[in-house]
Amino acid sequence: MKLLITAGPTREPLDPVRFLSNRSSGRMGYALAEAAAARGHEVTLVSGPVALPPPKDVQVIRVVTAADMLAAVKLHLKKCDALIMAAAVADWRPARMAPRKLKKGRQQTLTLELKRTPDILKSISWLKGQRIFIGFAAETHNLCAEARRKLRAKKLDLIVANDVSRPGAGFEVETNQVVLLAPDGVAEALPLMSKRAVAERLLDWLAVRVRRRS
Ligand code: C5P
Repeated sequence: MKLLITAGPTREPLDPVRFLSNRSSGRMGYALAEAAAARGHEVTLVSGPVALPPPKDVQVIRVVTAADMLAAVKLHLKKCDALIMAAAVADWRPARMAPRKLKKGRQQTLTLELKRTPDILKSISWLKGQRIFIGFAAETHNLCAEARRKLRAKKLDLIVANDVSRPGAGFEVETNQVVLLAPDGVAEALPLMSKRAVAERLLDWLAVRVRRRS
């Protein structure tokens, strides 16, 4: 199977030396890419800025902003059978990027105007066709309700929900604790496990889904 996977945060520049971003380390998306390649899938990984080495046998495309990520996903979507959006795309970007470093001057406050970044999954949902789309939902409250809302809004086949306020789950750690939610299926709550093990479970789900379809 040909898989397109996104990973890591995006960075939205404020000036040449500053940016808005989030705490995503990219580990979940990289674990998925590594596990998928080890199973013999053809993997393209669109990665935001992370400090991880490129996974073996994976084509890595490096991007910085949400707009870059959208362009790269659009470009590679046509030749993939499934898209897994594990990236923590920044939801907001500074409305303007200053061409020079912003100076402190004497001011004690600075008000930033922010604009929404494109929602990648929503912008490409019309290109879905027979492809399987999987998303992630990192939440701090109302985990399943929020994840179900995103599952519908983004027209996904599966959403991987994780409560990032729990110790050992979510950003910057080696482990994760997730709930898998499909539109018509029952929620499957997985125990705390390594991100690689979560990746394997997700790829198992994908394999069953593809087998059922054919
Ligand atoms: O940020 P949010 O909770 O909406 O993310 C849910 C899913 O949507 C994730 O899979 C994420 O990669 C994706 N997403 C996106 N474009 C955005 C924000 C999130 O495709 N601008």
